[in-house]
Amino acid sequence: MDNRPRTAPATIHRRQFMKALGLGIAATAVASSHLFGAGAEAQTPGLITKQIPRTGEVVPAIGLGSFLTFDVLPGQPREHLREVIRRFSEGGGRVIDTSPLYGMAEVNVGDFATALGINDRVFIGNKIWSTGEYLADDSHAARSLEQSTQRLWREKIDLMQCHSLVNVDVIVPLLRAWKKEGRIRYIGVTHHEPAYFGVLAQWVEQGDVDFVQVRYSIYARMAEERLLRAAADRGTAVLVNMPLEKARLHKLVAGRPLPDFARELGIETWAQFFLTWVISHPAVTCAIPATANPEHLSENIAAMRGPLPDRDMRARMVRYMETIPGFDTLDEMPWYPDKTYPGVIGRAQRELRRRT
Ligand SMILES: NC(=O)c1ccc[n+]([C@@H]2O[C@H](COP(=O)([O-])OP(=O)(O)OC[C@H]3O[C@@H](n4cnc5c(N)ncnc54)[C@H](OP(=O)(O)O)[C@@H]3O)[C@@H](O)[C@H]2O)c1
Repeated sequence: MDNRPRTAPATIHRRQFMKALGLGIAATAVASSHLFGAGAEAQTPGLITKQIPRTGEVVPAIGLGSFLTFDVLPGQPREHLREVIRRFSEGGGRVIDTSPLYGMAEVNVGDFATALGINDRVFIGNKIWSTGEYLADDSHAARSLEQSTQRLWREKIDLMQCHSLVNVDVIVPLLRAWKKEGRIRYIGVTHHEPAYFGVLAQWVEQGDVDFVQVRYSIYARMAEERLLRAAADRGTAVLVNMPLEKARLHKLVAGRPLPDFARELGIETWAQFFLTWVISHPAVTCAIPATANPEHLSENIAAMRGPLPDRDMRARMVRYMETIPGFDTLDEMPWYPDKTYPGVIGRAQRELRRRT
């Protein structure tokens, strides 16, 4: 890689950028105030949005994940989660990713989206993780969909994904059938382990999946090799999980000032630095960082505003990170440094550790 310092133009027209990357126009990044609902448009001008290639539906480029962060034991304080969703929606956010596997997360998302009166504006990405009791048994998956619609107070789920490719040969045909029946609007497959990116790419290349969800961050760039290109070629929307590397990127830069060149992009926080980098890839539709902290939420959605870095600036951002000790071995840092999430999953994990 060319490490010479250069002065890159901070921004480039989005179409030019896509052309420069040779990615076609399958996933169109649009800096626009074009949002769902007149109310949202009035409140959130200048938001960075993207199109879902198969339909042209427009969604904001920063969403909200819910693993661990939205898992709170019944009876425990959870008002902070209402505030996270309130700020998310007020800031123009719509895409919320959850799963029946995330303890109480679906329940909390459903309760607060309903209580805040925004449930019909939220774009829910949910998942099926089901093996059934015998080969080709899809009854558990059917019950899972039923339970999710109840927990989320929804008749229809916007996007249903096969969680981490579990039982994928049975689940994807089932998702297709549900889509035909109008019970879900889009289908997708997910994973976060690079070892499975090849299989994810095959589903994108051969299949009719509308969405793929994959880990992609300024540290973990493996998805670029095949998957993001395939998604752009096939017109498959991309949700990005682990965009903050499960809080490890923030731990790495704790106490460190932002580089001066970040100001050229109007970047004021490390969250903006990491998330703007992710959503500036033309194939990326929406990054879904998770947080239980309203202040962090405000930082994260700020990445949906302002110019996006062009290809040179993205490379410069990576080169800067490479100068920080520990960046190249980030995978060795434990997930969620200095954090505990005391929900169903945290309790189960503690019990598991006690037994072993
Ligand atoms: N296979 C799959 O389908 C799969 C796998 C992984 C993830 N996912 C989905 O993708 C979502 C995102 O991935 P993830 O939750 O694993 O990781 P992530 O979003 O990269 O990281 C979440 C962590 O980052 C911290 N954080 C968030 N914003 C911050 C900020 N502004 N400043 C400092 N720290 C911040 C959060 O802590 P605080 O609570 O303190 O803010 C939390 O501990 C998940 O929640 C889930 O919905 C799906």
